[in-house]
Amino acid sequence: MENCVTVHDQQTTSQSASLQEELLAGLRATPKTIPPKFFYDWKGSELFNLICEQPEYYPTRTEEAILHGFSKDIARLIGDDGILIELGSGASRKIRLLLEAMRPVSYLGIDISRDFLIESTQRLAADYPWLEVHAACADFSQPLQIPGAVRGKRPVAFFPGSSIGNFSPLDAEGFLNELGSLLPPGSGLLIGVDLIKDEAILNAAYNDAKGVTAAFNLNLLNRLCKEFDAVVDPDSFSHRAFYNVEQSRIEMHLVSKVSQSITVSGESFDFEEGETLHTENSYKYSVDGFQALALRGGFHPRALWTDPENLFSIHYLERV
Ligand code: AVI
Repeated sequence: MENCVTVHDQQTTSQSASLQEELLAGLRATPKTIPPKFFYDWKGSELFNLICEQPEYYPTRTEEAILHGFSKDIARLIGDDGILIELGSGASRKIRLLLEAMRPVSYLGIDISRDFLIESTQRLAADYPWLEVHAACADFSQPLQIPGAVRGKRPVAFFPGSSIGNFSPLDAEGFLNELGSLLPPGSGLLIGVDLIKDEAILNAAYNDAKGVTAAFNLNLLNRLCKEFDAVVDPDSFSHRAFYNVEQSRIEMHLVSKVSQSITVSGESFDFEEGETLHTENSYKYSVDGFQALALRGGFHPRALWTDPENLFSIHYLERV
């Protein structure tokens, strides 16, 4: 019999309403902001996958190389018989590097982009017939639950791609504490964290020559028009990304090319020429800095893997 995906919808109507409220609150703020989770409609998820293939965007290939090189060590630490939970699973590519070595009983992919999640977990179920595959559409910045139907002895979370960097350090700490509701004491978290490095490498990674990151950033405005009843011309904004040394973060903005008013869900927002809409932060950490944050978030550092150039790190943490 064909291996199927069990889909669990954790996105409620009240969450969709609060999504709109969150969007409007950010636009009403000074400076104007939109949380990065709004990037990921179908098109945004596709563009993000394309970013990962750009030569300038080193995090994906570096993290994959680390996983490939150390999958057996990682699997030995984590053990088998588990429930492998991937947060922000996207195309579910990196997990493939772990599945054979780990042989978990079940896999649970959690992502905010529903259709994308279902398609990628269906591919996973077809390619790994021995694996019980579950998909939960949820916003992992909100409290999460493991659906009762998921089998396995103990959960292990996998949070790759340095998505933790898209939270502020304080929110990252809060997020780790919140993960405690998913992970009982003693269970593990395997997490990818981008490292502080030469500014030129960072700036290039978020300003690729083909303009894919620019298209990803600008797609946000197309999404607002399609799903949030917005009236805005994406061509009247441009992409800006730069490394903010003091804050150790890449900042992404959409810059208004002209003085203009845009409308979102019936509310109007004025932009001066050159005014920016802050769409994303991507924090970079030192190994020590991240381990200290993990401890504050209730996790003990247990193991660490990096690449020879120290571009990226993968930490294995254990719930205190
Ligand atoms: C998903 N996240 C970790 C990416 C990052 O690098 O912060 C999102 C991204 N934004 C622009 N390029 C990639």
